[in-house]
Amino acid sequence: MNNIVNLPSYLEQSDAVRERFERIKQREVILEVKNLGKTYKTAKGEVTALKDVNFKTHRREFVCIIGPSGCGKSTLARILAGLESHTSGEVLVDGKPVNGPGRDRGMVFQGYTLFPWLSVRRNVMFGLEMNGSLREEAAREADLWLELVGLEKFANAYPHELSGGMKQRVAIARALVNQPRVLLMDEPFGALDAQSRAKMQQHLLEIWRNVDITIVFITHDLDEAIFLADRILVLKAHPGEVQELIEVPVPRPRSAQQYVSPEFLATKARLESLIHPPTPPVDEQAEAVKPRMIRFVNVEDNVE
Ligand SMILES: Nc1ncnc2c1ncn2[C@@H]1O[C@H](COP(=O)(O)OP(=O)(O)OP(=O)(O)O)[C@@H](O)[C@H]1O
Ligand SMILES: [Mg+2]
Repeated sequence: MNNIVNLPSYLEQSDAVRERFERIKQREVILEVKNLGKTYKTAKGEVTALKDVNFKTHRREFVCIIGPSGCGKSTLARILAGLESHTSGEVLVDGKPVNGPGRDRGMVFQGYTLFPWLSVRRNVMFGLEMNGSLREEAAREADLWLELVGLEKFANAYPHELSGGMKQRVAIARALVNQPRVLLMDEPFGALDAQSRAKMQQHLLEIWRNVDITIVFITHDLDEAIFLADRILVLKAHPGEVQELIEVPVPRPRSAQQYVSPEFLATKARLESLIHPPTPPVDEQAEAVKPRMIRFVNVEDNVE
């Protein structure tokens, strides 16, 4: 790709972008992952889902995590959320070790996880009420956050009355209402159609600009990662290890026009080469186990 259109290096940064990264690095560290490892014991033996993962995120930074299926992205998200234990290393939020779920971390998953029997407002109030807030106070808070995600008119609606994108906006409001330090998002827009997904990406950046929140966002989608992130943590599979931590050279504010900018394309080319490395030479391929193809057709000609 580099040769065809003569792209700049993804490592090249304009002065404005470089200065922005310098400012980010001067901010306090909110999340620190140190030598994190996770091994699952299964009937077939041990599976190393994560090995020696290290990274830091600074206050109000937007970090995306990408990597092939099975490289441990969700495992990492669950460990950061405190929903799963780790085997080695540690996770610190504001310098304190994470040993379980806590209000300092909010979580949004891919699947719609709203309570279907509760109204939108009551869904958002739920966490506050669980933590002892009075109902009236929780309702007031919930309405503020629903306004932020643009759903104040839907406070009395039920989840089944909302589109997929709207449901995820409620899920974001529900995670933010506890005022966490870190918002963990595991493929939150994965189930949306392309148009709703693009709208939600814009919307999330808008929310992030207005709230003091550090975001760790997991995605399969390279464009989504470049569009959203300050830095992208690229994992590789088996075991899930950090391949590279990329500073996205695309300036902010981000817009759809930037998808074809040289910096965007250069970053995408780099991510492609890490995630989908070129196929090995033919003699190496021959060594790989070939799946046995069974043909369910009885015609002679080949469709190709
Ligand atoms: N509860 C579990 N028990 C055993 N192995 C597990 C468990 N959960 C995950 N794994 C294994 O750990 C590895 C990482 O899984 P994980 O779900 O974190 O990957 P992922 O990167 O989120 O994948 P995807 O992109 O498909 O969502 C995989 O090999 C998976 O089979
Ligand atoms: Mg996953």
